[in-house]
Amino acid sequence: MSDFTFPKGFIWSCATASAQIEGAWNEDGKGLSIWDTYCHTPGKIVDGSTCDVACDSYHLYEEDVALLKGLGVQQYRFSIAWARILPTGTVDVVNQKGVDYYHKLIDALIASGIEPVITLYHWDLPQSLQDLGGWLNRQIVDWFAEYARFCFKNFGTTAKIWITLNEPWVASWYGYAGDAKSHAPGGFQQHTPWAPYLCAHHMLLSHAAAYRIYEREFKNEQNGKCGISLNCHWKEPATSDPDDQAAARRAFEMQLGWFANAIFSKEGDYPLLMREHMAELSKQEGRATSRLPKFTQQEIQSLKGSADFFGLNYYMAHMVKSQKWSESTPNSCQRLRDGGYVEFFDPHWEQIGGKQSWIRNTPWGLRNVLNFVKNEYNNVPLLITENGCCNERYDGLEDHQRIKYVGDHLKAVSQAINTDGCNVIGYTVWSLVDNFEWAEGYTLLFGIHSVDFDDPKRPRRPKLSASWYKQCIEANAVVE
Ligand code: NOJ
Repeated sequence: MSDFTFPKGFIWSCATASAQIEGAWNEDGKGLSIWDTYCHTPGKIVDGSTCDVACDSYHLYEEDVALLKGLGVQQYRFSIAWARILPTGTVDVVNQKGVDYYHKLIDALIASGIEPVITLYHWDLPQSLQDLGGWLNRQIVDWFAEYARFCFKNFGTTAKIWITLNEPWVASWYGYAGDAKSHAPGGFQQHTPWAPYLCAHHMLLSHAAAYRIYEREFKNEQNGKCGISLNCHWKEPATSDPDDQAAARRAFEMQLGWFANAIFSKEGDYPLLMREHMAELSKQEGRATSRLPKFTQQEIQSLKGSADFFGLNYYMAHMVKSQKWSESTPNSCQRLRDGGYVEFFDPHWEQIGGKQSWIRNTPWGLRNVLNFVKNEYNNVPLLITENGCCNERYDGLEDHQRIKYVGDHLKAVSQAINTDGCNVIGYTVWSLVDNFEWAEGYTLLFGIHSVDFDDPKRPRRPKLSASWYKQCIEANAVVE
C-alpha cells in the first residue's frame, strides 16, 4: 500500500493542444493560425521544423482515444483550433468539416467513458485576426466571446468542462515581450514595452466575457463548468535578505497573481503589489501613466469569481533575487527588468530531460503553489491541468526520469491534499503523446507515448511511464 494516496473520485487525465498534435494545417478548409505563420518563418523554430503534420492527430485521433482508454484516465484535455472551425476567426464563416472533426473526437471520447475537457485557446489565434491586431486590438474581446459562444452551443451538450485560455502569461510574455524563447506572433520587442500588459488585459477581459456567456446562456441547461489554466513557477527567495524575500513575492504576484487575482481574489483586480510596482516603475522612467492598464468597476465585477475551478499548469521552481532597475543589464529580458528581480535555477536542483532542458525537479514548489492558492483564493477547487517533463528526441522508451519526476510531483499533490487540506480535484499529465514543442520544435518531447516524427503514421508507442501511470490510476495512488 502506497503512502501517497488520493481521495475517492480524484480525476486522472492527460493533455494535448491542437497546434501541437493535429497537423493538417491547411486541410479541409482550416484557416491559418499565427503558429502556422510563425513556424514557416525561417529561424523561429530551433530545429527548423513546423507543426504542419505534427502527430497527425487530425487523422489519427482514434489512436489517441485508444491510448487514453488503455490508460484508464477519466478525462482528456485537448484544445480546439479556432481557425479550424472559424477560418477567418469570426462566426461569419463556419468550416463544417472542422466542426465535424471535434464532434467525432468528443463522441469517441464519450463512447470510451472519457470526459472531454476543452481548452478554447491554446495559443493558435487565427491569422486573419492577428492581421487586425490580434490580442492588442480590444475587439478581440468580442471575437473571442463569439467564438466561445459558438463552441458552447455546438459542443456543450456533450462536452461539459471548459477552459477559456491556456497560460495567458506565456502568450503575453513570450508573444510580446521579446524574451529569448519567443512565441507567435513575436517580434515586438523594445518598441512596445506595454504590449504584454495590453495583451494580458484583453485576455482577462475575453476570459470573463466567455465565462459570463457560459453562465448566462448555457450553464443551467448544459450543467457544465468553466475555468482557466494558469501557469507559474514557484518563486523561491535566493537569500533571507528582505529585498530578496520581497522580490520573490513580487515575482509570484506578477506571474500567477497577474491573472489569478482578478478572477479568484475578493478584489477582482490586478494584485495591489503589482499595481504599486508598475506605478513606481513609470515614475522611474519619467512617464505619467503606468503601462499596466486599469479595469473599470464593471469589468472588475465581471472578472471577480469568473471561474468554477482553478486550472494550474506547474513545471518547476525558480530562484529569485532582487535587482534594482538601474542595475539591470541591457541584455536582461523585459520581464525581469520590469519586475526588478532576476530569476535563475539553483545548480543543485536536478535537471530532467537532457542538457537543453529547462525542467528541474522541484516538486516542493508545486506543494507551495497549491498552498498559496488555498490560502489566497479561498481554497477554490483546483485541477492540475498540466505537469510533466521532457526527454530528447531518440531517447528511447525507458523514461525512468519521467517516472521519477511525475511520481515526485504526485507525492507532493497527495501531501497537499491529505496533510495540508488543499482542494485539488485532479491531475493531468503533459502530455499524452510527444508533440510539437513550440519554438523548441521536436527537440524536447513531453509524451508518455512516443511518436515517430519521421513517419507519424507509424503506431504511437508507450514509454515506460505510460504503463506506470496506468498503475497509479488503477491504485489511485503513487506506485513506487
Ligand atoms: C505548457 C504549455 O501549455 C504546453 O503547450 C507546453 O507544451 C508545455 N507547457 C511544455 O512546455
